[in-house]
Amino acid sequence: MIKKVGIIGGGTMGSGIAQVAATAGCLVKLYDTNTEALDKSKAALEKIMARLVEKGRIDKAEKSRIQDNITYVDSLKELSDSELTIEAIVENLEIKKKVFQELESYVSEETIIASNTSSLSIASIASALKKPERCIGIHFFNPAPLMKLVEVIPAVQTSGEVLRKIKMNIANWGKTVAIAKDTPGFIVNRVARPFYGEALRIYEEGIASFHEIDAAMKEIGGFRMGPFELMDFIGNDVNYVVTETVFKAFYYDPRYKPSFTQKRFAEAGYLGRKSGKGYYEYKDGKVITPNAVEGSFNSDLAQKIFNRVLVMLINEAADALFWNIASAEDIDNAMTKGVNYPKGLLAWADEKGISWCVEQMDTLYDEYREDRYRCSPLLRKLKKDNKTFF
Ligand code: NAI
Repeated sequence: MIKKVGIIGGGTMGSGIAQVAATAGCLVKLYDTNTEALDKSKAALEKIMARLVEKGRIDKAEKSRIQDNITYVDSLKELSDSELTIEAIVENLEIKKKVFQELESYVSEETIIASNTSSLSIASIASALKKPERCIGIHFFNPAPLMKLVEVIPAVQTSGEVLRKIKMNIANWGKTVAIAKDTPGFIVNRVARPFYGEALRIYEEGIASFHEIDAAMKEIGGFRMGPFELMDFIGNDVNYVVTETVFKAFYYDPRYKPSFTQKRFAEAGYLGRKSGKGYYEYKDGKVITPNAVEGSFNSDLAQKIFNRVLVMLINEAADALFWNIASAEDIDNAMTKGVNYPKGLLAWADEKGISWCVEQMDTLYDEYREDRYRCSPLLRKLKKDNKTFF
């Protein structure tokens, strides 16, 4: 098992990953160029640990053990004895490449060098190294200590041995590993796009309000948050950029087309919770805009909205399987454990019926005649062969 872990970047993700590794018993060195970030990270961990003690989840000895496992360092060279390094700095390819090159000059031949990037290709980051076969993507979800899923992404250069070691060690940290191909958005950030995109489109067509769409997804679908609540939570700026990045990376496939509504909200500074206003208004972290639907909520409409968003999600998940982005189990685990979906999308497709999925997609396609609504060939094949995903 890997014992010595170096983390580069002590922001939101780096701090969370450090906590996960330290809790699992690793000796962690957390490095950041900004010493204030390190102080903040240390203070945040103290708060989290104190709360866990209060709740009785850990005792004081465990708290000290976890905290003592993390050393905060202000020089990259300090990571020289790491067996594994995970980088979680700013999402910029050139900066990441430079840091990786410098890091490679300090560490041993065997050190695995990983990135937590959400949107850059692992192959492009790995190409900066003299030994690119030691590079791999290890993509945690925010907040890292709470979200069970970790996507592990081997690049074309990654050795089988590095993949095997990482799979084993990350599972040993208590995480559910989903292996994903090095393609835009990996699993979650690709398959989840219609949750936002189709909801925005339904709103833009004037079919329903933000609140009605959220209510449909929560009440009929059992999603914990509606798409608009979730976009407000993530931040419209961040969510928009992810959508635009995925859209461009897929050579402008209309399935991932960003929305003008969200773009204008981001431009206006209506970012969501963090700015006090997004699709809803917030005060002290609580929604202050009336949450109830005016008049009676049309249940036929709610069902239609839910069906449309769900089938678009299912279609995306099926297509990810069609293109061998990940296994059916990993695709379903990714969505339930990375973004808390109430069910895996492929299991949901089986439950609704493959024929139902194909018919829903074809109805949308007939109505709009847009490539966005093309049914995945895999769904059609399953229907023809009278098969299911599981
Ligand atoms: P953040 O802005 O909270 O933290 C980044 C930290 O890196 C800052 O403390 C900064 O001082 C430090 N840093 C910047 N350049 C550096 C350098 N050259 N050397 C050392 N430290 C440096 O960012 P966040 O949200 O933690 O994201 C980090 C990475 O994780 C990005 O690649 C992002 O795409 C990825 N990611 C983010 C998720 C999220 O929800 N925030 C989820 C999964 C991945």
